[in-house]
Amino acid sequence: MFVRAHAERHHLLVADDAGQVAGFLAFRTDWFQCTFVSLVVVREDRRLRGVARALYRRVEELSTSPRLYSSTEETNAVSIKMHTALGFAPSGHIDNLPQGYRELLFYKRIRPWGLGRRTLHLTPAGRRKPGFGSSSRIPNVPLAASTTRSTTVTVAA
Ligand SMILES: CC(C)(COP(=O)(O)OP(=O)(O)OC[C@H]1O[C@@H](n2cnc3c(N)ncnc32)[C@H](O)[C@@H]1OP(=O)(O)O)[C@@H](O)C(=O)NCCC(=O)NCCS
Repeated sequence: MFVRAHAERHHLLVADDAGQVAGFLAFRTDWFQCTFVSLVVVREDRRLRGVARALYRRVEELSTSPRLYSSTEETNAVSIKMHTALGFAPSGHIDNLPQGYRELLFYKRIRPWGLGRRTLHLTPAGRRKPGFGSSSRIPNVPLAASTTRSTTVTVAA
C-alpha cells in the first residue's frame, strides 16, 4: 500500500524533442499536501527555448493542489531567474543542508483543476500519444509523463 502510494505521488515528466530527450522534471504531490518540483534539467543545447516553461506548465495541469512549490540553491542565478519568469514568488529557504548553500523555496498559486478534471491513463512505458504536451511556443516538444515506476502516463485531452 505504501509503495503504491509513493509511486503514484512521484512523477517524472520528460520533454521529448523529435525522439530525443530535451529535458526532464521530477515532481511529487505528497509534499505537505502540496505539489513540489524536486528537479528540472534541460539539455544544454536545448536551453532558452521554453522547454522548462513547458514542463512546469504540464505540472500545473497535473497538480492536484493549487499550491505549487519549487526550489533551487541560492547560488543558481539562472534557476532563480527562471522561477521569477515563471511567476513564482520567494517562499523562504532551508538551512543546514549538506550542499553548503541555502535552498531557496519558491511558491506559485495555480488553478486547482488538477487531476480532478482530467483523467490519467497508465500505459506501458514508451507509448506516447502524439502531440501530448505540445506547447504553442515549442510545438515540436511533446511531453511524455511517467511515474517513478517507469510507467508512461498520458493525459486525456
Ligand atoms: C534552469 C533551466 C532548467 C532552464 O531551462 P530552459 O528550458 O532553458 O528555460 P526556458 O527556456 O523554459 O525559460 C523559462 C524562463 O526562464 C528564464 N531563463 C531561463 N534561462 C535563463 C538564463 N540563462 N538567463 C536568464 N533567464 C533565463 C527566461 O526568462 C524564461 O522566461 P521567458 O520565457 O519569459 O523568457 C536550465 O537552464 C537548466 O537545466 N539548468 C541546469 C539545471 C538547473 O539549474 N536546474 C534548476 C534547479 S533544480
